[in-house]
Amino acid sequence: MIRIFQFTGLIFTFLSFVVSAEISLSKTELASTKKIINNLCIACHAIDGNSLIPVNPKLGGQHAAYITKQLKNFKSGLRENAVMAGMVANLTEKDMINLGQYFSEQDILLSLSEKNGIGSLGEEIFRAGLKSKGVAACASCHGPSGHGIPDKYPRLNAQHSQYTLSQLNSFRLELRKNDPDSVMRTIAQKLTEKEMQAVSDYIQGLR
Ligand code: HEC
Ligand code: HEC
Repeated sequence: MIRIFQFTGLIFTFLSFVVSAEISLSKTELASTKKIINNLCIACHAIDGNSLIPVNPKLGGQHAAYITKQLKNFKSGLRENAVMAGMVANLTEKDMINLGQYFSEQDILLSLSEKNGIGSLGEEIFRAGLKSKGVAACASCHGPSGHGIPDKYPRLNAQHSQYTLSQLNSFRLELRKNDPDSVMRTIAQKLTEKEMQAVSDYIQGLR
């Protein structure tokens, strides 16, 4: 029995190697991606995507498809941001796919919440939502630990609370309009500033 388990384990290790080897960047792609980051992105997002400046989002460990989508949305103007529009202006589709793949393979730097730990308002909103206002639990889409679901829901955990709060406000004011079916705009419009602050702080400490 133990042998069978060991053997199955081996097959899984082999399979995951094959799968990740398939989607990982080639040597030349890795070199050209790092060149773009060193030339354009490093000052704000750091080489591994773990920006230390709270207005700039952490990209490390974010899902590849989500990063690529955002870069394309900045380029088309669907997500409006003057700084990022300039950054992506000369990137090709392949560059944006490679950047997504590269950052998704970096580990996210974990962080702590300031006030919203266990039993806080932030935790309640994240885990249970606000039934009285019809706000769904963030965890129902972004996952119990905020790791998201690749290609569908972005990872949120450990993100700078200042960035998360700025996005919730942008969704609320419809300055950010690239969420499919207005899902985030609808949610943010039901939250008060205090509630957005609490949930953003809780998310920063999620592991
Ligand atoms: C001058 C600082 C700066 C530089 C340089 C910069 N960014 Fe950004 N980036 C930002 C800011 C600020 C935001 C948040 C924009 C917003 O509020 O919508 C952002 C957002 C993003 C996002 C969206 C993340 C999310 O979670 O939705 C991605 C992806 C990204 N940047 C990738 C890059 C890449 C790749 C480069 C280099 C080609 C780059 N950035 C260069 C400041 C910068
Ligand atoms: C019904 C599903 C759903 C629920 C519930 C939900 N979200 Fe989202 N959220 C999304 C989707 C989809 C996106 C990606 C939008 C895009 O493609 O740009 C998103 C994006 C975000 C972003 C932007 C991430 C980034 O890196 O820029 C933040 C922040 C966020 N959600 C916070 C929350 C919070 C806080 C809650 C709970 C109050 C919540 N979400 C509940 C589906 C959901």
